[in-house]
Amino acid sequence: MKQNDIYLDHAATTTMAPEARNHFFELLETGVANSSSAHRPGSSAAALLEVARETIASKLGCSPQEIVFCSGGTEANNWVLQRSVTDWNRATGNKQLPHIITASTEHSSVATTAARMKEDGLIEWSEVRVDQLGYIDLVHLKSLFKPTTVLVSVSHGNNEIGTVQDLQKIGTLCRESGIRFHADACQSFCHTEFQIRDLPVDLMTLSGHKIRGPKGVGALFIRKGVEISPLVYGGKQEKGLRPGTTSVELISAFAKAATTWSPKTISDLAGIKSYVVKELRKRFTDVQFNGEVEKVSLCHVVSFTFPRFESKVLHRLLAENGVACSTGAACGTGKSDRSAVLLALGREDRLAHQLRFSFSPTTTTAEIDEALGRLEKIISTLQ
Ligand SMILES: Cc1ncc(COP(=O)(O)O)c(C=O)c1O
Repeated sequence: MKQNDIYLDHAATTTMAPEARNHFFELLETGVANSSSAHRPGSSAAALLEVARETIASKLGCSPQEIVFCSGGTEANNWVLQRSVTDWNRATGNKQLPHIITASTEHSSVATTAARMKEDGLIEWSEVRVDQLGYIDLVHLKSLFKPTTVLVSVSHGNNEIGTVQDLQKIGTLCRESGIRFHADACQSFCHTEFQIRDLPVDLMTLSGHKIRGPKGVGALFIRKGVEISPLVYGGKQEKGLRPGTTSVELISAFAKAATTWSPKTISDLAGIKSYVVKELRKRFTDVQFNGEVEKVSLCHVVSFTFPRFESKVLHRLLAENGVACSTGAACGTGKSDRSAVLLALGREDRLAHQLRFSFSPTTTTAEIDEALGRLEKIISTLQ
């Protein structure tokens, strides 16, 4: 990045925390053996792996045995959807088509997987409605339940608009009907305060690079007693649930990144978010926010729209002026440049576009002021 560039796309990916980066470099320098090897360096690698597992488990509020490391959010989400269906078919003898419910605002790693499985004739797929702020309609959710419903899968914190779902309420409904409940917490892990032991969630997806760890690593929380077969087959790594030589370096740095988050980190980020919302309202009277900005929401994501200007034009001009943000639609599943998430919120087509600013603990109010100043100049030239 150039010196004057301002990076406000931390929800897409963010820089590694210095602690995680230094730890990663140290491991590369000292060298890490294969954690499955039966010799002393192998045992040291296995010990490092177990420390990382304990760290992630304690952050999430579960037992280390409930954490399985994998390559990231996309893999974990695919794993849950694909194998929940295959396992159900095996158990029931392939008699009926399994039914999956996702929210209409899902990340493409869930929405595209479900769409493809439906196209392949593997599932019946329903999308539960959300309200204007992106909260799941619980009455609609319950009305979608069938005897064949195998899985409900929703994002905990929405990556485009920052709305955070009530996992307690959704999970309780699922439990009452004996339906498996999966939450994608790629954006909410470390960015919101929760303990999985308090929540009726069976499976949860985590991603390393969203919490200032490296890319290409993540984890699936599998609650004790929940059975899911592996997505890929091979060796016995991760109790045979995720074969392939374990990247102790990536996993260890992921865990180190998790230790850098505290309640203060979250409240500081929430302060930045409130500042952005306040300044946007002050500087641009016609700005419209998408998703939740008043109550508890993802502390690092703000989505907004200017009704008079196409967001893709503003995005391009911001990029030309050294402000890196997102239109939130890069991973969208829609065919047009409209955001499938905003359309699901009930936005008319004309307004279903957005700018997303997202932050990390390195973001300063000075950077925000500079970015908004550049945005003001851009808008004044367009008027
Ligand atoms: C909500 C959500 N789920 C899943 C993913 C995919 O995670 P990964 O990049 O680790 O595959 C992302 C990342 O964009 C995300 O924001």
